[in-house]
Amino acid sequence: MEQSEIISLLQENMSKAYAPYSQFHVGSVIISTEGETYSGCNVENAAYPLGVCAEAGAISSMVQNGSKGIAEIYVMGSGEALVTPCGGCRQKIREFSTPETKIHVCGPEGLRQSFTIEDLLPFSFGPNNLKHD
Ligand code: THU
Repeated sequence: MEQSEIISLLQENMSKAYAPYSQFHVGSVIISTEGETYSGCNVENAAYPLGVCAEAGAISSMVQNGSKGIAEIYVMGSGEALVTPCGGCRQKIREFSTPETKIHVCGPEGLRQSFTIEDLLPFSFGPNNLKHD
C-alpha cells in the first residue's frame, strides 16, 4: 500500500471514531509482518476510563485475524501537538513489536514523525521477562 493510500485510510478510520465525550477522533492502521492491513478508531463510552484507543482496536483486529507482528503502526489525530500513542498503547504495541517496528505519528495532513518502540517505551517490560526454564 502506498503511503498516500495509508494516509487516506487513516483519515477514513479517524472519521469513524466514536468520541462523543472527548470529541477527539483518532485513526490507526497497522501493517503486519505478513503485509496485511488492519484498521482501528477510538471508541469511547459513558464510563469514560473504559474507552478504547484507536491503536488498541487495530491490534485486536490484527490478532483476531491471525497475525502477531507489527511491522508498522500509524496513528492519526488532529491538533498541533503530536498524537503519540498513550502509555497503555505503548505497552500494547510493545507486545507485538521488534526493534525494527516503525510507529508513525500523523496529522490529518500526513506523516509528522516516526519512532521506534525503544524511543517511546525505553527499558520496557515485555514477554521476555516472563520466560523461565
Ligand atoms: N486516543 C487514542 O485513541 N489514541 C491515542 O494515541 C491518544 C488518545 C483517544 C483516547 C480517547 O478516546 C481520546 O483519544 C482522547 O484521549
